[in-house]
Amino acid sequence: MNKTFAVPRGTSDILPDTVLLWEALEFLARKVCKSYGYKEVRTPIFEDTNLFKRSLGTTTDIVNKQLLELASSKEDQEEGYALRPEGTAAVVRSYIENDLEKKEPLSKLFYIGPMFRGERPQKGRLRQFHQIGVEVLGPNAASPLLDAEVIALAMQLLRELGVKEPQLKINSLGSKEDKARISSWLRAEFAKHTDRLCPDCRARFERNVFRVLDCKNESCRKVVAQVVKDLPLSVPSQEYFKQVQAALKSVNIPFEVSPHLVRGLDYYTHTVFEITAAGLGSQDAVGAGGRYNGLVHELGGNPKVSYGAIGFALGIERILLSLGEVPIPPANINIFVMSMKEEYQPLAFLVLQLLRKSGISADMNFAGGSMKSQMGKADKSGARFALILGEEEVKNKSVAVKDMRQSTQETVALDKIVEHIKNVLPEE
Ligand code: HAM
Repeated sequence: MNKTFAVPRGTSDILPDTVLLWEALEFLARKVCKSYGYKEVRTPIFEDTNLFKRSLGTTTDIVNKQLLELASSKEDQEEGYALRPEGTAAVVRSYIENDLEKKEPLSKLFYIGPMFRGERPQKGRLRQFHQIGVEVLGPNAASPLLDAEVIALAMQLLRELGVKEPQLKINSLGSKEDKARISSWLRAEFAKHTDRLCPDCRARFERNVFRVLDCKNESCRKVVAQVVKDLPLSVPSQEYFKQVQAALKSVNIPFEVSPHLVRGLDYYTHTVFEITAAGLGSQDAVGAGGRYNGLVHELGGNPKVSYGAIGFALGIERILLSLGEVPIPPANINIFVMSMKEEYQPLAFLVLQLLRKSGISADMNFAGGSMKSQMGKADKSGARFALILGEEEVKNKSVAVKDMRQSTQETVALDKIVEHIKNVLPEE
């Protein structure tokens, strides 16, 4: 076969068998989120490019290198649109635009869907990937217990989805003022060691000095380890972070405090966290998140209100990678209808539709064929019963019902077939 077209690099088809796995995973994720009082929100997969620039930061890799902009969109917008690289910015936009603040004291939202980043593809790093994300927003959303709740939800989701021993790292970047002060301090400290920093970090140094902290380069790591033992947070920020840690301990969530964890998005303040899993190679973060108290104001929220906001996103593809081979439950139908002669095919179709309209899952072999080949197809379909329309049956306005597991067979009147099948099928 001449395969002229291929799926775009960094994306993949999710074929029917695997979709069953995704369905199960999404079902479970929705159940767990709802059990914590979170409600689902669905926003468009593209937004005003400026929304991402303003929220994620113009110096971040996601905005600088990975934003997939829609070339044809510039006619009606000065900046045009871009495919969403993540969900937080859109949820905050939606929160403000739809006045959710007036409808509920605290908005606890979750989303499941595709995100797009123009990255160089590698294992666990895709251009289209999927996230399960949650965001909590509200005038009263500045409690350390909410930080603990959000982290607890992320950990429970991962556990229930089957990720073994997810490792949690947390840190605090402090308030907006702390961040500005720490930025100057880091710049002054790293200035003494620029010759030991990698070219990337020398560039980051001016634009976003925090990113030097999580550079993977060996020499940069040595400088970081030497310079930064702890981030010098203000007393209230330290106090807040202590309360988050106490809350996590109180509900038995193990964590490691990592003063070098910063995350690649500008909007974070105070608590940031990352969860890794084994077996993923260099892209081992299955989820990450943090607080972003300033973003609602940044995107046009009421200046008189002091908002709190925190959330996370888990990468579905990375979760699946970490699970390895998972047995996929077969998606069997209950009934397979077959006709022994080409001319009975319309009757077979009629019976098929009768069953389906009564809520019984059923299929037929549209190509017809010999009894043997049709039986083979019935077997493959996994159907519990095969309905056979042979000469005798059609003459007597009946149908043969073959139990595929027990290899028994009985004849049932056509006008009683739905009732009969409902009686013999086990309860679902
Ligand atoms: P993020 O760290 O950029 O955060 O992404 C969260 C998770 O999405 C990652 O830990 C990873 O599992 C997955 N992920 C990210 N990029 C890729 C990729 N190219 N291929 C496969 N998986 C990927 C955010 O997106 C923030 N919006 C999280 C958040 C929500 N913070 C607050 N609220």
